[in-house]
Amino acid sequence: MQEFILGSEAMHSILKIVNKVAKHDVSVMITGESGTGKELLAKIIHLQSPRSENPFVPVNSGILSGLMFEDKLFGHEKGAFTGAIRQEKGCFEMADKGTLFLDEVSELPLENQVDFLRVLEDSQFLRIGGNELIKVNIRIISATNKDLQNEVKKKLFREDLFYRLHVVPIFIPPLRKRKNVIPKMVNHFLNQSVVNFKKPKPAVEPEVIELLCRYDWPGNVRELKNLIERVFIINDDDTISLEHLPSDFLWHFKDPLRIKNLEEIRSEAEKKAILDALHRLAGDREKTAKILNISPRTLRHKIQKYNIKFERRRKPLKKV
Ligand SMILES: Nc1ncnc2c1ncn2[C@@H]1O[C@H](COP(=O)(O)OP(=O)(O)O)[C@@H](O)[C@H]1O
Ligand SMILES: [Mg+2]
Repeated sequence: MQEFILGSEAMHSILKIVNKVAKHDVSVMITGESGTGKELLAKIIHLQSPRSENPFVPVNSGILSGLMFEDKLFGHEKGAFTGAIRQEKGCFEMADKGTLFLDEVSELPLENQVDFLRVLEDSQFLRIGGNELIKVNIRIISATNKDLQNEVKKKLFREDLFYRLHVVPIFIPPLRKRKNVIPKMVNHFLNQSVVNFKKPKPAVEPEVIELLCRYDWPGNVRELKNLIERVFIINDDDTISLEHLPSDFLWHFKDPLRIKNLEEIRSEAEKKAILDALHRLAGDREKTAKILNISPRTLRHKIQKYNIKFERRRKPLKKV
C-alpha cells in the first residue's frame, strides 16, 4: 500500500478525516496546489474504502470537451460514429463499484457539466449510440488547484454540480507550509528509489537536509521527489553531500539582488588582485608583495586568509 507521509498536526487531522470518510460513499473534494499529493490521497481514500478491490479510475477533466468528453466518460457502441469500430466502455463504466477520480475538476467543460451532473444524480447513462441504460455504482473523489467557489461566482462552474461534488472538502497545504516533513519525505523517497532502481541507500549529510528545508518547492512534493530520484540515480557515493545536488537546484540559493557589505567587497577585490598579480608574476611572492605595496608577511597572511592556491611557474608571462 502506498504511504502518505505526514508531518504536521494539520496533516494528521487530514488523515483523521480521510479515515472517517473512506468508509462512506460521500463525495470528497481535495484542493491544493499541483504536486501536493491530491491524487495520492484520493487513492488512499479508495484503498481504505469497502471499494478497494474494485478499480480506481483517474480522469483528467480538462483534456477533452464536447463529444470527445462524452465518449471518454460514457463510452460508445460499435458504429456510433465514424471510427467507432467496436464497443468501448467509458470511465464511468470502468469505475463501476470503484472510485472515479476527477482530476482538475475546475476544467470540466461548461457544456458537459449538465450531463455529468445528471449521471451523478441518476447513476445511469447511455453509451453514445446506445439505447440500453447502463447502471453504475461509483464513488466520486475530485481534485482541483483552483478556488472552485470563485469559478462558480464567475459562472464557469455550475453551482449545483459544485455542491454535489463538494460534500467533504479536504485542503492539502503546500509543502513550503509544512517544511518539517521534508526530512521524513527525503528518507521515504530514498527508500522508494532503493526498491525501484535496485541500488544501496546512501546517507544524507545534514547540510543537504538544511538546504532542502530552505527552499520553497513551488512544485511541492512532486518536485522534491523528482530531485531525490535524480540525485539518487546519478550519485554512486555512499553519502549525499552538497556537491551532489544539481547546479540548477543550487542556483536557487544564489541571490543576485543581495547587497554585499564593504568587508565582502574588499575581500573579493583583494583576493582577485593578489591572484592576478601572482599569475602575472609567475607566482613570485616577493615581487607580488612589492607591486601590491604590502610586506611579504602581509601577503602571506592574506594568501592564507583567502585560501589562495597558486602553483609557482618557472617563467613569468610574456609582456604583450
Ligand atoms: N504526503 C506524501 N507522502 C508520500 N508521497 C507523496 C506525498 N504527497 C505527494 N507524494 C508523491 O508526490 C507526487 C505528486 O503527488 P500527486 O498526488 O500526483 O499530486 P497532485 O495530484 O496534487 O498534483 C506523487 O508521486 C506522490 O506519490
Ligand atoms: Mg495531479
